[in-house]
Parts: sequence; C-alpha cells; structure tokens
Amino acid sequence: MKLVKPDELVELGSGSSTKTRLLLEAMHGTGGRWYVPIEISETALYQAAKMLSSDYDWLHIDGYVGNYTTDLPLLQRRGRRLLTFLGSSLGNYTNETRAEFLAMLGNALQPGDALLLGIDLVKDEETMVLAYNDSAGISARFNLNVLVMLNRELGADFDVSNFTHSPVWNAENSGVESHIRANKGMTVSLPGLGTSIELGEGEGIFPAISCKFTREGVTRELGDAGLEVTQWYTDSAAMYGVLVAAPKI
Ligand SMILES: C[S@@+](CC[C@H](N)C(=O)[O-])C[C@H]1O[C@@H](n2cnc3c(N)ncnc32)[C@H](O)[C@@H]1O
Repeated sequence: MKLVKPDELVELGSGSSTKTRLLLEAMHGTGGRWYVPIEISETALYQAAKMLSSDYDWLHIDGYVGNYTTDLPLLQRRGRRLLTFLGSSLGNYTNETRAEFLAMLGNALQPGDALLLGIDLVKDEETMVLAYNDSAGISARFNLNVLVMLNRELGADFDVSNFTHSPVWNAENSGVESHIRANKGMTVSLPGLGTSIELGEGEGIFPAISCKFTREGVTRELGDAGLEVTQWYTDSAAMYGVLVAAPKI
C-alpha cells in the first residue's frame, strides 16, 4: 500500500468484502478514503457496505451493482487507483476469454495505479481436483445447484438425484472443469427455452472451469495486457499467489 498510496480501492466481485478490510485499513494508513466495490449481487453489496460504513467512519463507499466483465470502464476515477481482483476469480475466465478481460483491466489503469490480483497456482493434480470434491459434499451441492436453478428459472425437470458432480483436470486449459454427469439416459425439458435435451448415460453438462496459474504464465498474460508484475507473493507451500502489477511505461 505504501508503494501505491491509492486514493481509491476498486474491487471486482467484492462479495462480503471480508478480506478487503485488511486492504482498507492499510489504505487508510496511507491517506486513501474511497472504496468502490463492483458486485453482481445487490444483497451482498448492500450488506457489506452497511457493515463497513458502521466500522470505518472515515471510509467513502461508492458501491456499484453490476457486471465487472463489462462495467469497469464506466466507473469514475477519484485519483490514484488500486484495482483488486481476489479469490482467484480470474480462473473463471477460459484461455479464450481471459486476454480480453485482462486488456480491460489494463485499460482501467493509468501510470501510478496498480492491480492486486489473487490467483490459485498450479499444483499436483490430485490436490487441485480434490479441492472441488470435498468429502463433506459441499462442492458437489454447489455445482448441482445449477440444475436446481434451471428448474426454478426455466421450469426444467432435472431430477438432481440422477446426476453426479464430476470434477476433472484439463491440462490443456490448465483448469479444473466441474462437470455434471447423467447417471442414466434421459430426456429433460426446458420449457423456458422452448426445447428439451437428450442426455446419454455419463454425458455431461459443464457449467464451470477454475483455471490455475503459474508465475510465468500470468506474468506473460498480464504483459500482453500492458501490465508489468512488480511484486509476487505466495504462501510457504506456493499453493496460492498474490501479485501486484502496474501499467508498463
Ligand atoms: C468467489 S467470490 C469472491 C468474493 C471475494 N472477492 C473474496 O475473494 O472473498 C466471487 C464474487 O464475485 C461476484 N461476481 C461473480 N461474477 C461477477 C461479475 N461478472 N460481476 C460482478 N460480480 C461478480 C459474486 O457474486 C461473488 O460475490
């Protein structure tokens, strides 16, 4: 924070803003006062802003309910900017879509600004896949909830008990793909889309990818977006990374 001395902290996908507290406190120490969270969930944003404003009376919060994939360029600047994107949400972009997104981040930064990026690093395959297949079944419930949502939003008739959560490592995409596989052949109707789909036994629906990164790879990709990695930190086992990048001059 001392290196950047931001006037504003812009956070993409801020959620509950729990981790952000550390950053906000550090920003306060160097004179910054603005927090600009962009969050798609109005409820999450409102709750977080309410808690933060009661805990930090010096903080000016200008929350934005919207989609960070498209809306970042719409934000007004309030001086030097620290843009944060935590929780390895960058991993939700595929190799095909990530370059465009990173270019948008690069364009949102001016000389003197910085990006603070949290990423999940490539590690052994078993550890990476297990992270999406915990024994308590939380990841499975989370992923299968996609079917519950399709039933609710599109009137579909997925019987969730006929599906299995099946995460796999895709080395080509450097990501864990969370497939949902049909346990038997079936026809599912999707009235909201005016169609139905046939699924064979073992056939999958593939709702999400979580890409993992290497220092070399992410440095190259950020470089292509006009950003230079200036600091790099990991935990002691090098499972996760946090980096600071600045616009190349
Ligand atoms: C994995 S959580 C991370 C929350 C927090 N940044 C952290 O690291 O703990 C991702 C957050 O991003 C939000 N989100 C996901 N996609 C988004 C988008 N396209 N635009 C804005 N917010 C988004 C979600 O609602 C969720 O709160």
